[in-house]
Amino acid sequence: MVSVGLSTPKWNCGFDNRLIFGDNLLALKALEQEFAGKVKCVFIDPPYNTGSAFEHYDDGVEHSIWLSLMRDRLVMLRNLLSDDGSLWVTLDDNEAHYLKVMCDEIFGRANFIGNAIWEKADSPRMDAQFFSVRHDHLIVFGKDITKTTWNKLRTDETAAHYDKLDEYGRKYYLKPLRAMGGQGDSRAARPTLYYALTAPDGSQIFPKRQDGTDGAWRWNKAKVELEKSRIDWIQGRNGWTPNYRIYAEENAQRPPETIWTHGDVGSNRTSKAEIKSLFPELVPFGTPKPEKLLQRVVHIASNRDDLVLDSFAGSGTTGAVAHKMGRRWIMVELGEHCHTHIIPRLKKVIDDEDKGGITEAVGWQGGGGFRYFHLAPSLLETDKWGREVISKEYNATMLAEALCKLENFTYAPSDAVYWQHGHSTERDFIYVTTQTLGPDQLQQLSDEVGADRSLLVLCAAFRGTADRWSNLTVKKIPNHIKYRCEWGHDDYSLKVENLPKASPKPVAAPSSKLKASEQTDLFGGDEEGQP
Ligand SMILES: C[S@@+](CC[C@H](N)C(=O)[O-])C[C@H]1O[C@@H](n2cnc3c(N)ncnc32)[C@H](O)[C@@H]1O
Repeated sequence: MVSVGLSTPKWNCGFDNRLIFGDNLLALKALEQEFAGKVKCVFIDPPYNTGSAFEHYDDGVEHSIWLSLMRDRLVMLRNLLSDDGSLWVTLDDNEAHYLKVMCDEIFGRANFIGNAIWEKADSPRMDAQFFSVRHDHLIVFGKDITKTTWNKLRTDETAAHYDKLDEYGRKYYLKPLRAMGGQGDSRAARPTLYYALTAPDGSQIFPKRQDGTDGAWRWNKAKVELEKSRIDWIQGRNGWTPNYRIYAEENAQRPPETIWTHGDVGSNRTSKAEIKSLFPELVPFGTPKPEKLLQRVVHIASNRDDLVLDSFAGSGTTGAVAHKMGRRWIMVELGEHCHTHIIPRLKKVIDDEDKGGITEAVGWQGGGGFRYFHLAPSLLETDKWGREVISKEYNATMLAEALCKLENFTYAPSDAVYWQHGHSTERDFIYVTTQTLGPDQLQQLSDEVGADRSLLVLCAAFRGTADRWSNLTVKKIPNHIKYRCEWGHDDYSLKVENLPKASPKPVAAPSSKLKASEQTDLFGGDEEGQP
């Protein structure tokens, strides 16, 4: 990845799941090439901009800055979503309404799906001056609402009515076959529904109303014949009465509603207890979400093996829940709690040592893995003379791979052809070098590429007219990288103390001078004459 270096701890087992430590702006940019259009569900729980200073992060920046920080990220999150995917953002009244309007602009107003209310508090705050605020917002957009696919909720709660089991283990309850209430329950009103049914003892039973007058059955004779296996006879003090079975539909479902109670999905108290029981010894993470809340989001918005992304991971609830529900996931977290909370939490999930949250409800028994990435340092840095040089932490391979990502080429270095570092099609290649290329070298490259292929050459500098060779596109590395990537910022976090600084003034005529000892063959060679 362009700015994501891979480490190899023991739970790095080659799984698709990824945890990225670093700023999400750079991380999302790095993810774009591989995952654009592939993420089914984005859930984010960004700092609400409440002005609070939490133990693990600060949460207060000037309103317009908060919006512009969010805008940059939402634009990239939208690119990552699949056409049938959806974005879910939790916020409170501080910024929710502004974010909704901004998302109208980014996603299109027609793609607004709804604003659900999550009952985050399970008791009132008696010290509230005005309202005791009990809810957060869940703002939901589809990438393209005409293609968004969702799952309904299972209606397990109705199962209590179904208090009987048939011989196949199916749940049902009984209702009298005699029509009751309304105008259609008398023989006079429904004469065809007044007829005799044969009880188990052979007696003939007619429908009778409570007052003893002639009544009517609900079903006609034909339906009784057809559905006779559904009729149960019950013998009471007044003789036999026929009843019919109403079965629970196997997969009874209902659309999600916009009010999510703490009884259904947990409250802040629930999530704090979850974190406390996971890490009794740690300073608790201040603003976790309950696993059941995430379970509902993940259930509605994705299916098994779909990709779920959370770029404000916090204590890692989204990843933990997605993992237990058999989804693939990507999480990004900037704070050190990425290491102190998220990694240990996911290890517990994988090792089946997390018995809390939704573990029991989904029958989770451990397994899987994830890969850990951290954002690598900037490709370019400024030396003490104010010139842009390639960071010493980069080697030739990392530079070529980074630039392939930035240029949307697939990194695939050829052993045989030195100028093939990657390709965008079968006939379009990329070559990365920190050399200054002169007309002779470019001519030689052009000859080797030939008439039916093309090559993007990214070099430190070049002499001559770049458009002389129709099969070559020649570009300088520094300016181009500056254009695609916001190099020069130290930090893009939403923390107050780390607000993005103004872009550095363009460095006039950078003349990168890398020491020969720092270079491999890719970097090696002529550094003079950089324009
Ligand atoms: C409200 S918390 C998320 C809590 C999470 N939903 C959970 O259940 O634990 C917001 C998180 O976003 C992180 N964050 C803030 N700015 C970020 C950035 N630029 N890149 C990555 N993470 C960031 C903060 O460090 C914090 O952990």
